Amino acid sequence: MWKRFRKFVKRIIRSQGYEITPTKAALPSEVRADFDAVFEKMGRYRFKFLDVNTFLVGTLSRAHRLGLHKAKPLSVLDIGTGAGYFPFVCQHYGHQAVAIDRRGNDVFEAVPEWLGVDRRYWEINAYQPIPSLGRKFDLITGFMVNFDRFPDKGYAAWDPSEWEFFLRDLTQNHLQPQGRIAFLFNEHTQAKANTMDYLRSVGAKTANGWAMFETPPRVSMNASTAVV
Ligand SMILES: C[S@@+](CC[C@H](N)C(=O)[O-])C[C@H]1O[C@@H](n2cnc3c(N)ncnc32)[C@H](O)[C@@H]1O
Repeated sequence: MWKRFRKFVKRIIRSQGYEITPTKAALPSEVRADFDAVFEKMGRYRFKFLDVNTFLVGTLSRAHRLGLHKAKPLSVLDIGTGAGYFPFVCQHYGHQAVAIDRRGNDVFEAVPEWLGVDRRYWEINAYQPIPSLGRKFDLITGFMVNFDRFPDKGYAAWDPSEWEFFLRDLTQNHLQPQGRIAFLFNEHTQAKANTMDYLRSVGAKTANGWAMFETPPRVSMNASTAVV
């Protein structure tokens, strides 16, 4: 069942000339006819991140919100990319995307490869700079991120000082001078008032779980985040 489903997902995504649109109704009719039946049979193998229909709708909304459907070609870095739908959609709109995620989830390791996404393995940890990815980015994103926690402290969320280091690293080492950063947060991050206050204090506009930096964060650049 699992193998069949993986083949099915690959077929949808890879099918020649398949146009990404936000409704299942736009799937080619032969695939559309299979869709509900296959989902029905998935049973316990259901894995929410393989729900292409739902995830493409959400991902396209994110891309539209960031204006990517009408922007000139950009370089995009997606942090904690999961299955890689966002970089895939970026590529669809003519942008170049690099994605990073940690190892350890079979689905998140396999799907970006099927999608032809340039996914690199890197685990974000507090006070550890991200190594050079070979270029700087016009847009850095992180959706439903959960790298902002301490695995060794019961998954407690980062405080502003960890965020400051992380944003300084992005700004100094990975973001173009006029670049943008956008996060869409899970509830655990939104729930930390001091994190959201801190992000606003360095220039983020926050609403509905989003934190958007239309210009680079105003973090102190005096401390170093040099990649060693
Ligand atoms: C909830 S999923 C969101 C996936 C994707 N961004 C989306 O919105 O569909 C969180 C992702 O963050 C990744 N992640 C969690 N902790 C991480 C860390 N410390 N470093 C890198 N990636 C991490 C997970 O592997 C997973 O892919």
